[in-house]
Amino acid sequence: MNPDTPLQLLGGITAREFLRDYWQKKPLLIRQAIPDFESPIDADELAGLALEEEVESRLIIENGERPWELRRGPFAEDEFSKLPEREWTLLVQAVDQFVPEVSELLENFRFLPSWRIDDVMISYAAPGGSVGPHFDNYDVFLLQGHGKRNWKIGQMCNTESPLLAHADLRILAEFEATDEWVLEPGDMLYLPPRLAHCGVAVDDCMTYSVGFRAPSAAEVLTHFTDFLSQFLSDEERYTDADAVPTTDPHQIQRDALDRLKGLLAEHMSDERLLLTWFGQFMTEPRYPELVVGPEEVEEDDFINDLEQGAILIRNPSARLAWSEVDDDLLLFASGQSRYLPGKLRELLKMICAADALHADNLGEWLKDEDGRGLLCELVKQGSLGFADE
Ligand code: SIN
Ligand code: CO
Repeated sequence: MNPDTPLQLLGGITAREFLRDYWQKKPLLIRQAIPDFESPIDADELAGLALEEEVESRLIIENGERPWELRRGPFAEDEFSKLPEREWTLLVQAVDQFVPEVSELLENFRFLPSWRIDDVMISYAAPGGSVGPHFDNYDVFLLQGHGKRNWKIGQMCNTESPLLAHADLRILAEFEATDEWVLEPGDMLYLPPRLAHCGVAVDDCMTYSVGFRAPSAAEVLTHFTDFLSQFLSDEERYTDADAVPTTDPHQIQRDALDRLKGLLAEHMSDERLLLTWFGQFMTEPRYPELVVGPEEVEEDDFINDLEQGAILIRNPSARLAWSEVDDDLLLFASGQSRYLPGKLRELLKMICAADALHADNLGEWLKDEDGRGLLCELVKQGSLGFADE
């Protein structure tokens, strides 16, 4: 993708300009980001998803049993018919995992690293419905799917920003609107992390939120050090063979701290392990139970099927990314990683990018032993599967 091509999705600016001027910095309203956008799912289908055990959903009722009542799914069908006429919102997380047309929408966001994208949440709101003024710790693109929504944006927030007393929802106690727009289907609002916002449904409306993954510093440190510790032996310890006599035996001196910093720095600077951990972490599937491959795959049969016209597609729950380390490649597939020879670069790029893999686009790769092995592994692991399965 050429970063200097103006994109309709970004209101006619290029990916380079968007990243330079807006991404993580300031909001951008884009009228008709997706012209004549028609939501691929309707309110009934969204409500249908919220009945399912494996789908994460929430209902927020502004004047329910208590102010801003939160109910968590899965819901019973009759729960929807008992809702008030106005002022409630149904939010369904990760709809892209369950509805291929919603997952296809993410193709529009290929100017950003795919491993940064988390999911597409869809909300349905009755007139007046809102989840209250709040801020998120992630970037978000809010695409209007159906009906009209009034969006107000406000101040930049942080952990000190006062919140309403609520056990589960982080609703801002103070909201100073600085801008306001009514979004219609196809319009989109980009918001950087921590910017206060509040969307109120004008009529019954659906909003798509494309959300991003950004691990917190605490997550990076705890998860990376957990990962690292698997490779460290119990014998490797704090050492002070260079110690000199101290004037006070109770004092922890500067040299002890320096040795400790040396021990940490030595392991923290292992770039191979850092990259391996990061790639695995960022490709961790949201629902690992949905990435399960067939137990047995015979490589010969599998290649034969492809040669006979079978089509391999990515499991919508799978997350793929790749990187390079010296002359080798590292493939990350749904939380796992694997080193591959540098000659597989083009195949790897195709596996990560193509909607479908078949004898035509795979071409000579089907004759390459490492290439065949890789495809077969990904099927066994569940990241790829035959289209008709
Ligand atoms: C909504 O769709 O109602 C809320 C989305 C958001 O504010 O992040
Ligand atoms: Co939000």
